[in-house]
Amino acid sequence: MTRSLTIALTKGRILKETLPLFAEAGIEPLEDIFTSRRLLFDTTVDGVKLVILRGSDVPTYVRHGAADVGVVGKDILLEFGAEGLYEPLDLAIAKCRLMTAGFATARTAGPRLRVASKFVNIARQHYAAQGIQADIIKLYGAMELAPLMNLADEIVDIVDTGNTLTANGMVPLGHIADISSRLVVNKAAMRTRHRSIEKLIYDLSQAVERRDQPS
Ligand code: PRP
Repeated sequence: MTRSLTIALTKGRILKETLPLFAEAGIEPLEDIFTSRRLLFDTTVDGVKLVILRGSDVPTYVRHGAADVGVVGKDILLEFGAEGLYEPLDLAIAKCRLMTAGFATARTAGPRLRVASKFVNIARQHYAAQGIQADIIKLYGAMELAPLMNLADEIVDIVDTGNTLTANGMVPLGHIADISSRLVVNKAAMRTRHRSIEKLIYDLSQAVERRDQPS
């Protein structure tokens, strides 16, 4: 009997790298995800469905079992926690770094450093571990604007090419973590849907390994 398996994917940049990897593992949506307005897709594998979510919602869907498996950035797992989830595979896609950044010449005005980020938990832990007293300011996007507008002295953000920082006159200051997308699995589903999930992990890990081989 084919058991259904629902896989939650993170939309945006990660999705562009996830779909080719899943295709290499034999799973392809039956419709073009990028042109369709649907959020739930059947695939070339009977019973396997893809649901497209914001990254920060993927752990929630998987933790509650609304999706069995998810693909999500390590930054989201570090920020929101990975309780209730197994993290069996590094998919080695959407690689980037989580960094502190700011102007090359420190412009701290007050006694406490002001740090803007959407990763408030990571930022709080990072500066506390360095013994630096920091006021963390929650933002939802365009972190690079905060030092330019004198809202913050530094930011904690994802750095990929570094072009966004350069374009805004800033430099990376401190490395917090290397980031890539991870496969996460609901703990109960790992038992009840063991065979289909084991097969998915195996097929994806083979696809990741094949990419590692020199061509
Ligand atoms: C991310 C991040 C930076 C940018 C870094 O934003 O917040 O702004 O990418 O990339 P770079 O080093 O190659 O310039 P993204 O475009 O993913 O949008 P977001 O702000 O909505 O997360």
